[in-house]
Amino acid sequence: MYLTAEEEKILSGEQGPGPQRAMELLVALGRIYDADRLVPISSAHLSGVSYKTIGEGGIDFLNEMSKDAKVRVPTTLNPMGMDAERWKEMRVPERFSDRQLEIMRRYSSLGVRTTCSCTPYLGENVPKKGDTIAWAESSALSYANSVIGARTNREGGPGALAAAILGKTAHYGMHLDENRAPTVVIEVEDVTGVFGHSLLGHAVGLSTGASVPYFKGIRPDQDELKIMAAAMAASGSVAMFHVEGSTPESGERDLKGLEVVRLSTKELEEVRAKLSGDDRPDLIALGCPHLSVKEIRELAKLIKGKPRPKETEVWFCSSRSTVAQCPEEVALLDRFGKVVCDTCMIVAPIEGTHKVTGTNSCKACSYLPGLCSQKVVCQSAPRLLEVIT
Ligand code: F3S
Repeated sequence: MYLTAEEEKILSGEQGPGPQRAMELLVALGRIYDADRLVPISSAHLSGVSYKTIGEGGIDFLNEMSKDAKVRVPTTLNPMGMDAERWKEMRVPERFSDRQLEIMRRYSSLGVRTTCSCTPYLGENVPKKGDTIAWAESSALSYANSVIGARTNREGGPGALAAAILGKTAHYGMHLDENRAPTVVIEVEDVTGVFGHSLLGHAVGLSTGASVPYFKGIRPDQDELKIMAAAMAASGSVAMFHVEGSTPESGERDLKGLEVVRLSTKELEEVRAKLSGDDRPDLIALGCPHLSVKEIRELAKLIKGKPRPKETEVWFCSSRSTVAQCPEEVALLDRFGKVVCDTCMIVAPIEGTHKVTGTNSCKACSYLPGLCSQKVVCQSAPRLLEVIT
């Protein structure tokens, strides 16, 4: 991989050990994936924020990096392990909170914006079509590639941080036009609503793996696209997809000779049944990915006039910037359950407080058993809320 004279100097340690380590990481990634050079990025989004997922090893790494390095581009963070203001109400242990705050101090000293959300594209960090970026949240990066038309690989947390520190990333994978072309056509009948698109994404990820699917027969809105992207990224490592007549690069593509997969509503119901048990949830968690203003308004209509459930806690997960845009609806949701910001049902330590979680997100259903020791109920938001009220 070609390095400029300045990049060589960083690699030799001239700018200190933090930038040197970042450069070593990017060079190693570039060599593995056969990149020809480094290219400038306009933003980064980092995963690896919750104490639950990165632990003491992650804090040591951030300590090392933050001694003499700063990010060079606007950089945002994925959800951490707790709501910074309501962590006691979430029954997060004191020690967890202390260590979580230490992580946030480290990111802050690196110059990272400590807004914690997996939907930065809704407000805190909005790329444009054609931008080169380094993002590390699988649902967000798939949305950025597919719906916005920005260009990012499926970065890991350390790789995205290295890119943010250097303001550059290795030029391979989804940065190259040929890797953004569809590899399989998905023909769909009758998929509606956020939950339907979540099931669709999960089914496509399972059946096609790390492909670039091209969807025909659907016209998803922004919320349906974001939950579909999340489900596909979790079940199949999909980093990019196209929707005919909708996503920005869909019209530029040749579909000749591609395999066609047809999915029916019956198959989606089978997918749901496989993910779901029938226990009564002690937690219902909505907002994976984080809820948009429109979703918050729809949920507020759904629960208006209903009493707070007695035996089931309800979390509405969103970002602070989204919540600030709809205070009346947020107040309604808060009388019914809890609006939690900065975090989500997967990266918060819910294994210490809950046993059965209900959600409409197939991404969450994929991770809840393994990462949170939860039994799962997979259903639409209206059905989940109907059962407990
Ligand atoms: Fe976001 Fe957490 Fe889901 S980070 S995409 S709400 S697993």
